[in-house]
Formats: sequence, structure tokens, C-alpha cells
Amino acid sequence: MGESLTGLKRSCMCCDVNETMIGQEVTVMGWVQRRRDLGQLIFIALRDKTGLVQIAIDGNTAEQSLFAKAETIRSEYVLAVRGEVAARTPENVNPNMKTGKIELIAKELRILSESETPPFQIEDSVSPKDDLRLKYRYLDLRRPSQLKNLVLRHKVVQVIRNFLDGENFLEIETPILGKSTPEGARDYLVPSRVHPGQFYGLPQSPQLYKQLLMVAGMDRYYQVAKCFRDEDLRADRQPEFTQVDMELSFIDEEIIMDINERMMQKVFKDILDVEIPLPLPRMTYKEAMERFGSDKPDVRFGMELKNISEVVAGTEFVVFKSALEAGGSVRAINAKGCGSFPRKKIDSLVEFVKTYRAKGLAWIAVNEDGTLKSQIAKFFTPEKLQEIVDCMEGKPGDLILICADKDKVVFDSLGALRLELSKMLELTKPDDFRFLWVTEFPMLEWDEEENRYVAVHHPFTAPMDEDLPLIDTKPGEVRAKAYDIVLNGYELGGGSIRIHRRDIQQKMFELLGFTPEDAQERFGFLMDAFKYGVPPHGGLAFGLDRIIMLMSGASSIRDVIAFPKVKDASCPMTDAPGVVEEKQLDELGIAIKEVITEE
Ligand code: AMO
Ligand code: AMP
Repeated sequence: MGESLTGLKRSCMCCDVNETMIGQEVTVMGWVQRRRDLGQLIFIALRDKTGLVQIAIDGNTAEQSLFAKAETIRSEYVLAVRGEVAARTPENVNPNMKTGKIELIAKELRILSESETPPFQIEDSVSPKDDLRLKYRYLDLRRPSQLKNLVLRHKVVQVIRNFLDGENFLEIETPILGKSTPEGARDYLVPSRVHPGQFYGLPQSPQLYKQLLMVAGMDRYYQVAKCFRDEDLRADRQPEFTQVDMELSFIDEEIIMDINERMMQKVFKDILDVEIPLPLPRMTYKEAMERFGSDKPDVRFGMELKNISEVVAGTEFVVFKSALEAGGSVRAINAKGCGSFPRKKIDSLVEFVKTYRAKGLAWIAVNEDGTLKSQIAKFFTPEKLQEIVDCMEGKPGDLILICADKDKVVFDSLGALRLELSKMLELTKPDDFRFLWVTEFPMLEWDEEENRYVAVHHPFTAPMDEDLPLIDTKPGEVRAKAYDIVLNGYELGGGSIRIHRRDIQQKMFELLGFTPEDAQERFGFLMDAFKYGVPPHGGLAFGLDRIIMLMSGASSIRDVIAFPKVKDASCPMTDAPGVVEEKQLDELGIAIKEVITEE
């Protein structure tokens, strides 16, 4: 049920009504935020995407039928209101509202649509459960905070499009239905009806297409591209997400980094009025790992890792000794001011690092009087213990936390512990934006499970020229021409200079354990294209969702995506994924082997 709009035209948005319009007639349309009845006076707060305006219906002056209708109005009804703009009496002025100095005296009111009582109140101060929010995401999006995130997203994309247009990029779309070339995450597959038994793969990124666009001579390409990855969800990961993807020809790393940091500078200046000083700091992968235990370091606070292997070498503490003998290291962080943590809290830190495969965590607390307290004191002379503390620049009140293991475990554990402590101690501010580039990533990484090398970035990333001689002898030590742009502990984007020589690309496939037939089957189209003149090229892709998450201060990319998925990659609103009709499966020649239902 609802009245029609016939004969009524919206003259402005709710928040456009202002004091200069006093005495004028306007027509606004929107949703009822709330209705307040004060006897003969009814107030309605009407909401559209610009905000709220107050409608007043005075029983003494309004027509009786209008007043009677106003009495039936409930939250989230959709109204059209024609009325006269009036100044509010001084005691009714609301300084917290953009339209707080005026109100609209209703002359005509139409109920365009009624609403049931919504499952939660549409207010930012009310925070409904996540499941409920996402089931009714269209109601959740009526909340100003959620709308604000989508507006921000829109604005960021506009700035990016204009910027890249000014840098001579062409926006080109690439296919969603492509060839499955799994490397990294799992592919989402789409069965072909015309070719029974065959499947398209949804793109994990437009990587191969954008390289082919360079072969095609497009010179500079970009795309706001949907990407699909069947991997475990996290706060900063969704199965479908958006990249700002680009590729450039006849360039080197410097040009790519320069364009991208200027682009980020412009986005932050135009939209948040935040100055990002350029050039952005750079750090090699090795330095990032050594100092922060992470390839995406949050550099807003210190608490850096220090290698104390040499200090503890030769001591008899078996935990440290065996780690060093096995080729690992002993590293520590100084949690300043945490020396008075109760034992229970320290134990919780020990438990925390165990989730990163650390076998334990040793600690030394520096008491206020300078004496030391430690659970490993008995394994060391007092002098040695003091030497460790001195090496960590420990002062009264500090807590030194030590981990001994393989480098990877030590970095993962202390890197994560550092972040955990920063949260606990509130060491960072979300509006302190600290960008940096991480460079010189290793090209390959040994995968224990697959028992082969895998590409750290992707198989098309070029090795650093000076490391080329190592490619046959020590492939694990070859560094790549790859770079990530990092913001406050998040990988915002990543890219590389690509291999544009066929022989090196073939070598790379070989190192990754592909037989020539495998490589031809999967990437033959790229190798074929490389026969016909390839410009040196490279590029980068930003995670758009992550940019918006950090700019808005949201805690998950879910809050900056209109219709996100939940942890098990389902959509509570549409109930996707769902079963399909037998007929559809028959057309595709697909039979379901076994349906595992979870109770
Ligand atoms: P990469 O795999 O590093 O590179 O992805 C680029 C950026 O995309 C974002 N991202 C994600 N965001 C949300 N959910 C996900 N599941 C997800 N996965 C990645 C990250 C990441 O930095 N083709 C290359 C780029 C290139 O070399 O040019 C690529 O896809 O912010
Ligand atoms: P253990 O001899 O295994 O009981 O360990 C003695 C102390 O060293 C315990 O308090 C452990 O938490 C700590 N510890 C154990 N493994 C490690 C490790 N890999 N790195 C640092 N400390 C550890």
C-alpha cells in the first residue's frame, strides 16, 4: 500500500533545506527516522542520504486529515512532504543537526510506502549483531556510518580515475570468465554448458590479461577490477574483492612507485585533507623482517625486534642453544613499561605466541629498583641476564620478551606479539597514516607441503638483475623486482616488474616445478604472445577495500563493501551459495557426488 507521487516533485534533498529558504515551499522525500507526539504537535525526523530534516505538523493549524494521517506514521515509512520552511524557536534549535535551525511546516504529506518494524533500529548508536546486519544489509546501509563508507569509496574511485586519466592510462575491462590458472589461492570455477566437463575460472586478478594488453601496445592500463579468491576469510579478506589494477610499459620500479605514491597522496589530500609526505620511505623485505618481524610492518610505533643470538650464544640454556644449533635465532622485543604485568598476563602472552608455532616465550622484567625477575634466571649468570637487558636497552619498568626458534617462527611470533601489545597498550592512532614501500622480496619460497618452490608474488615477477647468476645455484636467495605498498600494518597493494624474456619465464616455470607441457597447457597463450614483441612492463594492484577500510577507520573490509560475504563465504541476505535445479545440472552434465550437510 502506498500513495502515488503523481503531481509531486522533489525540490531538494533533506539536508539542502536551510535558513535562506525560510518562507519558501519545498518538497522533500525520505524515510521516517522517528515520530514524536507532543499532544497537538507532531514532529517527524525525515531521512534521506544527505541526512535529517524536521517536519512539524501542528494540530491547531494543519488540516484535520493531515494531522490524522501524521498520527499513523511509524519509523521507516517512506514519505513525501510538501511544506513551508520555518525558523525553529530558539529553545528548539538543535546545534547537532545540519538542519537544526529550521523545520518544515507540513502542508501536504503522502505515505508512499509503509514499513514493518525493522529488526533493529536504524541508528549508529545501536550496533546490531553482525549476522542480523548482513541479513538486512539494505537496512544496515541506511545507517549514516555505513552510507558514509560507500560515499567515501565512491569519492576515492573518482579521484583515482581522474588521476590515472591524467597520467595517460586507459581504463580497459578484462574478462570475468577466463581460464583457470591456480597459483596462490584456489580458483572459483564456472561450468561450461557448451563444453561439458569444462570450466571457466574466475580471475584471482587480471594479471595475465593486463600483461597481454601491454603486448598489445596499450602502454598504460588500469581497471577497477573484481577479483575472486577461494581462500579463508579474514577481516581484511573477502572471496570477492576489488583491485585498482594497473600495468605500464617501458618503465622501471621508480616510475611505478612514483605514480602510485602520488596517487595515494592525492587521494588522502583530496578526501581526508591529510598530507602524505613524499617520497614514501622504503625498506627492504629483509630489514622489515629483522626490525618488525613482518613484511607489512606497522611503523607507527617502535618496539622493534633485536637479534640477541650473539649475546646468548655459548650459554647453556638448552632452548636457546638448540634453536641456534638448528640454524635459527634468538630475538627479543622490549615492551616498555610492561615490567609490572601480573604473571597471569605474561602467561597469556606466552599462550599468544604459541598460536604462531612458537614453543614458548622467555621474559625478563626489570623491576623499578633495577633488579631483574625472570622465569629463565636460573639458566643464566646474573651478569648474562643483565647483558641481555642492556642489549635490549631495558630500563626499570620494562619487560623483555624473547623467542628462540627458526627465523620464520621467531619473526611471526614476535611480529604478531608486537602488534598485540600495541593494541593492549593503545600505542597507535587510526588517523596517523604511515605509508612505506617494502622492496626486494624473495622471488621464491620453499613450500614444505608441496615440496617445491612457489612464487612469493607470482610466477611472472622478474628477478633482480644482480641476482640472476644465483637462479640455477641458489634459487631461494634470488630477490625479485617486487614491491608492496604498506599502510599501518596492512598490505595495501603489491606489484612487480615482469619477466618479459621468454627464456627467463620458462626457467621460472621450471623452478616452480611445471613440466614444459604443464606450462604450455596453463600459460601457453602468454608464452605464445611473448614471441611477438614484448615491451618491458610492470604494474601494481591496490586492494581498494583495504584502502577504504583504513581511510574510514572501519575494522573490517566488510563495512566498506555494499553486500559482503560472511566467514564461510556465504551471503546471509540472499542465501548464496544455494542448490540449483536438477535441470540446470543436467544441462551442464554435472552430477553431485555427495552432499555433505552440516547440522
Ligand atoms: P596481490 O595478490 O598482492 O597482487 O593483490 C593485490 C592487492 O589486493 C588486495 N587483496 C585482497 N583484498 C581483499 N580480499 C582479498 N582476498 C584480497 N587478496 C588481495 C591486497 C593486495 O595487496 N596481480 C597482482 C598485482 C600485480 O602484480 O600487479 C596481484 O593480484 O590489498
Ligand atoms: P622449558 O625448559 O621448555 O620448560 O622452557 C623454559 C622456559 O623457556 C619456559 O618458561 C618457556 O616459556 C621458555 N621457552 C620455551 N621455548 C622457548 C622458545 N622457543 N623461545 C623462548 N623461550 C622459550
